[in-house]
Amino acid sequence: MKSRQFLLAKRPIGTPTAENWDYVETELPSLAENQVKVKVLYISLDPAMRGWMNEGKSYIPPVGIGEVMRAGGVGEVLESTDPNFKPGDYVYGGFGVCDYAVLPTQGIHKVDPNLAPLERYLGVLGMPGMTAYFGILDTGQPKEGETVVVSGAAGAVGTVVGQIAKIKGCRVVGIAGGEDKCRYLVEELGFDAAIDYKNSDVKKGLKEHCPDGVDVFFDNVGGDILDDVLTRINMKARIVVCGAISQYNNTTPVKGPSNYLSLLVNRARMEGIVVFDNVANYPKAAAEMAGWIAQGKLVAKEHIVEGLETFPDTLMMLFRGENFGKLVIKVDH
Ligand SMILES: NC(=O)c1ccc[n+]([C@@H]2O[C@H](COP(=O)([O-])OP(=O)(O)OC[C@H]3O[C@@H](n4cnc5c(N)ncnc54)[C@H](OP(=O)(O)O)[C@@H]3O)[C@@H](O)[C@H]2O)c1
Repeated sequence: MKSRQFLLAKRPIGTPTAENWDYVETELPSLAENQVKVKVLYISLDPAMRGWMNEGKSYIPPVGIGEVMRAGGVGEVLESTDPNFKPGDYVYGGFGVCDYAVLPTQGIHKVDPNLAPLERYLGVLGMPGMTAYFGILDTGQPKEGETVVVSGAAGAVGTVVGQIAKIKGCRVVGIAGGEDKCRYLVEELGFDAAIDYKNSDVKKGLKEHCPDGVDVFFDNVGGDILDDVLTRINMKARIVVCGAISQYNNTTPVKGPSNYLSLLVNRARMEGIVVFDNVANYPKAAAEMAGWIAQGKLVAKEHIVEGLETFPDTLMMLFRGENFGKLVIKVDH
């Protein structure tokens, strides 16, 4: 059986283009012990993919040149040599950007299509949801009545962060690009306010919507927005460094926060997080979030693009702000 795959052909300088990818058809190997053959149904598109294309040390090794691009996905088991998996099981795993994969069962787990639509296991009930849950609760430590600001607020992580902070009784202000996204945050997700960073002044918006200052900032974008929020933080504020998407395609060094002395003045803390540190506790978090979804307290939104061959351009939607919710590819077969 053949698999269509996107291989990393060349490391990008700045914004990735078509020449960074090879789209190939490869014969799949037969199964060794404890392996499965999976029909990939949905592929997760994540800003982190841009980082995995770079050479150099990070929290995970880079994708090698000529290797299938790394990606999480949900699929159906077609064949198995592991007694714990059987044909017809639905599974989550790191299948890569491809339509069929053969891989070891280590790191793969079953998902239940009767509990949630399959794509949701790549969003709220998957890696971005876990990032939001542990990042805001363990590192942000929001307390009732505090003000929480989240950037990248209309995205996969940001929407969940804001909704969890609301569940915890906080005043929540989102920062996102465009009127539609800002309206959605307030009207559909119950944020107290949203600041459209593309069409309004962020500093002014923070002053207006955070009259008591900022106690927790969950940052997904870095750059100027991080600097602006630093001017509004309270004593003992917590800044969760989740990502810095505004900087990922830079050809110049990452722009650090020039207002960092605000941390000193306010005895505040800025702390990075990596979702994988919490793997052991994912099931507990997923169960609690599934409960919130069932109670209508947590709204999930996925943005589905059809067709494996769209991958290079679909990935760039994240950097153009064209995704509205968790971005996934529905694989055609
Ligand atoms: N630390 C971890 O373990 C971990 C895990 C998962 C994700 N992350 C990080 O979390 C962040 C969000 O990821 P996600 O999966 O939830 O993506 P996402 O928010 O669903 O999609 C990316 C969004 O970023 C915004 N964006 C793009 N370029 C921007 C710019 N120059 N300035 C400001 N905003 C920009 C766009 O929204 P607008 O339309 O609002 O501009 C876009 O929709 C990323 O930085 C990612 O790397 C970290």
